[in-house]
Amino acid sequence: MNKIIETPRLYLREFTIDDAQSLIDLNNNPNVIRYTGDGPVKDLEEAKRILTDIIFPQYKNKLGRWAVHLKSNNEFIGWCGLKFIEENNEIDLGYRFFESHWGKGYASESAKATLDYGVNILKLKNIIARAAKDNVASINVLKKLGMIYLKDDMCAHDPAAVYTTDV
Ligand SMILES: CC(C)(COP(=O)(O)OP(=O)(O)OC[C@H]1O[C@@H](n2cnc3c(N)ncnc32)[C@H](O)[C@@H]1OP(=O)(O)O)[C@@H](O)C(=O)NCCC(=O)NCCS
Repeated sequence: MNKIIETPRLYLREFTIDDAQSLIDLNNNPNVIRYTGDGPVKDLEEAKRILTDIIFPQYKNKLGRWAVHLKSNNEFIGWCGLKFIEENNEIDLGYRFFESHWGKGYASESAKATLDYGVNILKLKNIIARAAKDNVASINVLKKLGMIYLKDDMCAHDPAAVYTTDV
């Protein structure tokens, strides 16, 4: 296992091709993908394509969406991580968890450790995050992390706010 980050309650590791079913399960809940701009993952073939074409290439630059697990029982609870978005020349913080694990502080805990890793280990100058304005939980995570509101934008088809680590 390629473990990247450890926090008091969680560890973050690189996804492998064996995680395809987990991506299907995570996106299977409409509440989870309400503000994310992507849809359900329809089958294992599509999940493996997401892993090989979108997620794995980011690992070459030490970035990526990482699988998040509870230390207590190794349960996979979602993902968190950094992604280089070429069109905008931005490094984006993102996170997504199973609804059964919302409201327990896991997004804040994993995202804070991810930002620390980006700033202190990878020496990134700036990390941004984009959240739909109606996605109150996500906006609250970004505020809690101490990220700074930069501008309004769109996230998929929703009016969104962009937050940054640097202004
Ligand atoms: C957004 C998401 C990751 C938040 O995860 P989480 O683990 O529930 O967040 P946390 O428990 O760390 O909560 C962070 C803060 O937001 C607040 N919060 C959480 N859910 C909330 C809600 N529905 N409404 C208002 N505030 C909320 C919490 O109270 C907490 O603040 P506090 O510690 O001061 O009380 C989770 O809801 C999720 O996976 N959503 C689906 C995917 C998604 O939308 N990703 C983000 C795309 S931009």
